Amino acid sequence: MLNIVLFGPPGAGKGTQSERLIEKYDLIHLSTGDIFRTHLKENTPLGILARTFMDVGKLVPDEVTIEMLKAEVVLHSNAKGFIFDGFPRTNAQAEALDELLQSLSTEISIMLSLEVEEEELKKRLLGRAEVSGRADDADPVIIERRISIYNQDTAPVKAFYQAQNKLTAIQGTGTIDEITHRLFAAIDAL
Ligand code: AP5
Ligand code: MG
Repeated sequence: MLNIVLFGPPGAGKGTQSERLIEKYDLIHLSTGDIFRTHLKENTPLGILARTFMDVGKLVPDEVTIEMLKAEVVLHSNAKGFIFDGFPRTNAQAEALDELLQSLSTEISIMLSLEVEEEELKKRLLGRAEVSGRADDADPVIIERRISIYNQDTAPVKAFYQAQNKLTAIQGTGTIDEITHRLFAAIDAL
């Protein structure tokens, strides 16, 4: 299996690039943010819980997120591989993902970390707020909080994969096509 962690701060381009990668490599795209937003829209109990964290830019608790992710992976256990977009976001999530994949006799192949500086992230997210309808895009204070939680709780996950020699940093600025080609090159070198 080809299992990719597509990593990066809010607005780094994880969702945009995932669409290109799933097409080329025939992978299942698991974006925890997208899955939560589907629950939000349908007002499920999980959506009602998740909203209280997402709308203010905080992380949904690990136990809830990990259980949801596990259920999605098991649903697609015959897949050629997965792109994990927005997961893992804490070391506890990274450990749970390793255990889950091990139980399926597979593992993470590579972590691709999109590197984009803060000013550019803010510009992209505020730009997207016009069309996304996402409460967490509309307010600069909430965008700041998402970025600072990324720096504090999520960025350390890079060291987790670095310790396994799986981390590849990718410059996340430039045109969408340029970035796609950098990602393809890193995957094809595996
Ligand atoms: P999530 O949905 O994962 O959001 P995020 O990480 O904040 O990132 P985004 O989806 O906003 O950005 P992206 O990197 O996908 O960029 P995109 O391609 O859209 O999480 C949302 C919330 O859900 C979290 O805050 C948390 O509450 C909860 N959550 C999710 N997962 C969780 C987890 N594992 N644990 C706990 N809680 C969790 O691009 C952004 C914009 O930039 C777009 O408008 C795009 O068109 C534009 N753009 C893309 N590439 C370029 C480029 N090269 N040049 C210019 N513009 C570009
Ligand atoms: Mg996204």
